[in-house]
Amino acid sequence: MAILITGGAGYIGSHTAIELLNNNREIIIVDNFSNSKKEVLEKIKQITNKNFKYYEIDYKDEDKLNKIFKENKIDAVMNFAGFKAVGESVQKPLEYYENNISGAITLLKVMKKHNVKKFIFSSSATVYGNPEKVPITEDSKTGGTTNPYGTTKLFIEQILKDLYKSDNSWDIAILRYFNPVGSHESGLIGEEPNGIPNNLMPYIVRVAKGQLKELSIFGNDYDTKDGTGVRDYIHVVDLARGHIKALEKLEKENQGLYIYNLGTGKGYSVLDMVKAFEKATGQKVQYKITERRAGDIAICYSDPTKAKQELNWTATKTLEDMCRDSWKYIQNSK
Ligand code: UFG
Repeated sequence: MAILITGGAGYIGSHTAIELLNNNREIIIVDNFSNSKKEVLEKIKQITNKNFKYYEIDYKDEDKLNKIFKENKIDAVMNFAGFKAVGESVQKPLEYYENNISGAITLLKVMKKHNVKKFIFSSSATVYGNPEKVPITEDSKTGGTTNPYGTTKLFIEQILKDLYKSDNSWDIAILRYFNPVGSHESGLIGEEPNGIPNNLMPYIVRVAKGQLKELSIFGNDYDTKDGTGVRDYIHVVDLARGHIKALEKLEKENQGLYIYNLGTGKGYSVLDMVKAFEKATGQKVQYKITERRAGDIAICYSDPTKAKQELNWTATKTLEDMCRDSWKYIQNSK
């Protein structure tokens, strides 16, 4: 029985594909390469020394998706096929709602038709909006998202809750990621944002490499230890392993809807990240302090206790690993 991975050539999907193959799972990747490269599939094979099927299709294409479910024995689906750029989502709300929400609905409809009911969804800490307290537990209030990207995550969570209510033979895990960074230790795959990156780590590595002049630190007047924003950065390989644990949970429990934070439980400021990167890599990161970025919050970090207790999962990689591996990948990439 195979695990279908939509968006399996993307940043988190490809790292999860590797962990699944390393766990001797059969996988099938579905990707239209709209925000990823086909060569990533070869890299996954190279890293794991294992083979797998893939289909170059848009996951919103119901007919083609149906065909894949007919042709293969699929046991569970992990959905990584969402658009994820916050700024772009403000410019292109319809594209984001269509790709993320219509895509998820199409996928769930096809799964239902073929009686495949194990589903793992990539959600985000963004569903907590501006948190009332930190660390954030899973029962904290959700809502108050400030951009269409975040709202798609919130809506899909609601769709999944309603789906489960209508038919509790579904097995659903909603994984709320904090801030994924880093890359596979081989340096062969990693994060490849289109154009100038919005996120902190991809920006830092490009400044260190000399591709961008300097980092703009968006505000140093937040109510945090050094005034810069605090986040819960998590190594993408730890995050990928969280998906394996969630899958094992769904297989063990057989029916239920579960929500987990995937984070380290530690908050680091932007300045902490710059210093940690310089220490781990020996590279200097030029920066300047600028205005706050609209929509940013001061502090966001997880309470990862639930995932530890129920999934037996904890992040094991350090901030140094995250910085070193991010740097390794950018040095290898063009
Ligand atoms: N930052 C800078 N300069 C930059 C980029 C970021 O100072 O060039 C700062 C931000 O202000 C923030 C921190 O670095 O304090 C992290 O910013 P990111 O853009 O890397 O991440 P965010 O926390 O803003 O957003 C991330 C994901 C979203 C997700 C959100 C909430 O990108 O997908 O976390 O979980 F919705």
